[in-house]
Formats: sequence, C-alpha cells, structure tokens
Amino acid sequence: MNEKIIVALDLRGFDNILRVVDSLKQAVWFKVGAVNFTAYGIRLIEELKNRGKKVFLDLKYHDIPNTVKGAVYEAAHMGVDMLTIHSIGGCAMMKAAADAVREFEEKEGKKGPMILAVTVLTSMDESSLKNDMFINDSVENTVLRLAQNAMKSSINGLVASAKETVMLREKFGDYFTIVTPGIRPSWASKQDQKRVTTPSDAIRFGSNYMVIGRPIYEAVDPAEAFEKIRKEIEDVDAR
Ligand code: C5P
Repeated sequence: MNEKIIVALDLRGFDNILRVVDSLKQAVWFKVGAVNFTAYGIRLIEELKNRGKKVFLDLKYHDIPNTVKGAVYEAAHMGVDMLTIHSIGGCAMMKAAADAVREFEEKEGKKGPMILAVTVLTSMDESSLKNDMFINDSVENTVLRLAQNAMKSSINGLVASAKETVMLREKFGDYFTIVTPGIRPSWASKQDQKRVTTPSDAIRFGSNYMVIGRPIYEAVDPAEAFEKIRKEIEDVDAR
C-alpha cells in the first residue's frame, strides 16, 4: 500500500525537503513539481534516486512534439519514474512523448517512465474553458474527449480528480493508470482544496495512486501521518 501514496514535496528549502524525505523511510514515491524543479533541478532528483525512491516529475510538458519528445527522453535519462504532459498539447505531441519512452527503453535497455496526461486542470471550470480556451463543452465531456485522445496516442496514464476517476472508469475500464490529487484524510485540514476525497474513497473510486502533500509533510510527525493513511487504504479492494 505504501506504493499507492505519492508524497508531494511542495515545501521550500533543499534541506527541509530532504529532512521530510528522510523522515518518511516507508514512503516509496515523491512528487517534484515546477517550483522545486526550477529551484533545485537534477540535484533534487539525484538525492531522491540515491535514497532508492521513485520520482514523479510533475512539469506538465506542453510544447511542439519534437521538444516534448526531447524533454521526456531527458527525464527518462535522469531516472524519473513517472511524469506529466498536457493532453491539450495534441495527439502528435502525446505520441512523441510515448515514442521518447519507447526509444529510451530500446536504446538503454531499462524501463522508462510512465507518462500521465493531464486533461482539464481543476483550476478551470466551464466558463474558463469557454472564455480562455474557446471550448464550448462541459468540463466532463472535455475530460473524456482528452482522455480519448490520450488513449489514441498510446498514453495509458491520467491525472484525474476522484469524481473524474469514476467517470473515466465507466468509460475506459482499467485501460488507464489513474493518479488522483485533492486527497484529504478525515483528520486533516482541507486548506485550499475545495473538492476533496478521503484516501479510502479514492481507492474505491478507482484511483491507482494518490498524491498527498500537506497532510503528510506539515504533520507534526510525517511518518505517523503516512502510516495512518496507509492503514486507511490497506483494507480497501484495490485495482
Ligand atoms: O498539499 P496537497 O495534498 O493539497 O497537494 C496536492 C498536490 O497535488 C500539489 O502538488 C498540487 O499542485 C497537486 N495537484 C492538485 N490538484 C490538481 C492537480 C495537481 O492538488 N488538480
């Protein structure tokens, strides 16, 4: 069950980050996002890999296919285990990302990262889809259509909210590996998250992995918080 919890390292300061990582001996996965990758780069990835941890690099690539292909190849080379791209970047871009992993695996003889497509950011709603992106459709339909594009482009991972996960499982069954943020154990504060799901519900709804940040790294005892979450999901039938 430890493998299902991805700890988001959104706290600041290189030493602070490593202190949290070292206090979480039982944690397998850590997520590095744009803020800390911009600040600490490959150094942070190397520190995690040297500790035998798995790395989810959440940089949400969105560029011309050739550039995304190159970035995904370099991420694979860095030893990243999971990464994100924007499905809105199009099928050619997503296919180029998938090609990069295939080429890496063929050339290096090692397993490459899993690619997760981001569909509609949870910061967007129907009016931002319409006014900012000129998409005249509901958020739900847009998520499904972008997921369909990801599937057509040989991408088999998605980032999705718990609510979207239910809908995606109905439509695509077990095809996608689904990673879900916005998770709050019943004992933790919601902070700025609006629509939250408990860890056990996330598993029930069909998530394969959950991303959890502040409830773990801001806890007085992060290892204890991690352990409570692990216990909560232990008894749920997982995919
Ligand atoms: O601290 P907290 O558990 O809220 O952190 C959640 C993590 O998941 C953060 O890194 C946040 O950026 C990310 N995330 C999210 N909601 C999304 C996509 C990503 O909270 N829709």
